[in-house]
Amino acid sequence: MTRDHGVADGEAAGGETASGEVPCAAGRLPGIGHLIPLMTRPMPFLQSLADLGPVVRIQLWRRPVHVLTAPELVHRLLVQDAAKTEKGFVFDKARGLLGNGLFISEGAFHLRQRRLLQPAFHRDSIRTYTAVMARQAARAVSRWEPESPLTISERMHELTLDVLLEALFATRLGAGHKARIHQAVPVVLTGFIQRALYPSPLLEKLPVPANRRFDAAVEDLRAVVDDIVAQADRRDGSDSTLLSLLLAARDEQTGRPMAPLQVRDEVVSLLLAGTETAATALSWLCYELACDPDLQDELGEEVRAVASDGTVGWSDLPRLERTGHALSETLRLHTPNWILMRRAVAPLQYAGTRLAPGSEILFSLTALHRDPLRYPDPHRFDPGRWRRRGDHASRKLFMPFAAGPHKCVGETFAWTEMLIIAAAVLARWRIGLATPGRVHETATSATLRPRGPQLRIHRRAGRVPAPERT
Ligand code: HEM
Repeated sequence: MTRDHGVADGEAAGGETASGEVPCAAGRLPGIGHLIPLMTRPMPFLQSLADLGPVVRIQLWRRPVHVLTAPELVHRLLVQDAAKTEKGFVFDKARGLLGNGLFISEGAFHLRQRRLLQPAFHRDSIRTYTAVMARQAARAVSRWEPESPLTISERMHELTLDVLLEALFATRLGAGHKARIHQAVPVVLTGFIQRALYPSPLLEKLPVPANRRFDAAVEDLRAVVDDIVAQADRRDGSDSTLLSLLLAARDEQTGRPMAPLQVRDEVVSLLLAGTETAATALSWLCYELACDPDLQDELGEEVRAVASDGTVGWSDLPRLERTGHALSETLRLHTPNWILMRRAVAPLQYAGTRLAPGSEILFSLTALHRDPLRYPDPHRFDPGRWRRRGDHASRKLFMPFAAGPHKCVGETFAWTEMLIIAAAVLARWRIGLATPGRVHETATSATLRPRGPQLRIHRRAGRVPAPERT
C-alpha cells in the first residue's frame, strides 16, 4: 500500500500544473457532474479520490470543485492559508437563510465575533455546565425503554439539543418554545445541505413539501429565538447561561454589546453547529459498543469505578481515560463533518496545482481519518490505537474539530458533554443491536449519521436509581 504524492508538511514549491492536468474523478455525468456518487455512496467515493492524487477535480452540477485529499494540505488550507479563503458556496446560501453567526460568518467580522464568543466556551465556563449536562443525561437515559428497539440517533439528538438549550437559556425556555426548536432544528439541518446542492435558485421557490417544510422551520427557529432574546435582560449575565454571556459580551474596541439580531444569529448558529455533531458521534459510539460487548464491559467498569451511579463531574473526566479513547476512535472512524469546504479569495497552490481566486475547494475530514497509511486497518474500530504511542498520525493531523480560525469553538463543550452522556449510558445499560448486521452511513445532512441504528438495551446488574423527574 504505497501512495506517495510527495506532499510534505509545509509543502509549497513544485512545478505549476495547469488545472487541465489535475486528475478528474471517474463517474462524471453530463449536466450533473459527480452528484450521484457524492450523494449515493459519499464515503467510498471521497475515499477513492486519494488514489488519484493530493488534488482532484470533481464537478457538482456545472460547478468545478477541487478536492484536497492529503491531510497536510487540508491543514495548510485551514491554518496558514485561512486568510486567503472564505467559506464557500454552501455557506453563501446559508447566510441568507440562517444569518451571519459564527458558523457561517467569515473574515474580520468572524474574528471579532469569535473574540466575543470565546469566553463563553472557555474551560471555566464549560465547567459550570457539567451539572446541566449530567442532569439532562441522567434524566433522558433513565427514561429509555429496556427491551424494545431504540433508534439511538433520535434519542441522542433530543438529548444534545436539551443539553444545549439548558446551557443557553436555563429557565427562560418555556415548553412551547422548546417543542418548536426541537421540531425546527432537524428540518433545517437536513434542508440546508440539500438546498446548497440545488442547481438553480429557482428550485427553492417551487411549492413542494420539502421547500415548504424547510422555509417554515427556518422562519419558526428565528421567531422563537427572537422571542427569547427579546425577553432576556441584558444587564444580568449572572445566571451563567450562554445567552447571558452573549448578551453581556462587549466589543474590545468599541465597548458595544452585540445587536439583538446578531445575538439571534449566534444562537441559531450554535443550535445548528452544536447538536447534530455531538449526537452523531454519540450514536456511533453506542453502535460500536453494541458490536463489542467486551469493550462495553471494560468501559462500564471504568465508569462505575469513577462514579457508581454514572453521574460524573468535571474533576472526574480525566479518569475516564478508556472512554475517552473510545470517543477519539469514534471521532476518527465516524468523523461527523463528512464534507467541508472553502473558496479561494487569493491565489493558492497545493502540490503544484494553482488555484485561482474563486476556486471552490472541498475536503472530507472523515476520508482523511480513514487513510490506511496513517491508520492501519482504518475501518476497524480500535480504541487501543489511541493508547499505543506511534500507532496513529501526529495529533496535528487528527482534525475532527478542524483547525485554524474556524476550529470548532465548542470542542471542550462537546468533549465534556460526550463523556458525561457516555458515562450515563454505560453505567445503566448493556447495549446490543436490535437487528444484526452493519449499519449504513447516511450523508443527507451536514453529518455522516448512522441510519437508525436500532439498538436494544438491557439493564445492568446493580440498578442505578432513577433521577428525580423534572
Ligand atoms: C462532536 C462534536 C462536534 C464536532 C465533531 C464539531 C466539529 C466542528 C468542525 C469540524 C467545525 C469547523 C467547520 C469549518 O471549518 O467549516 C466546527 C465549527 C463550529 N462548531 Fe463544532 N463540532 C462539535 C460540537 C460543537 C458544539 C457542542 C458546539 C457548540 C456548543 C459547536 C459549535 C461550533 C461553532 C459555533 C463552529 C463555528 C466556529 C467558527 O467558525 O469560528 N460545535 N465544529
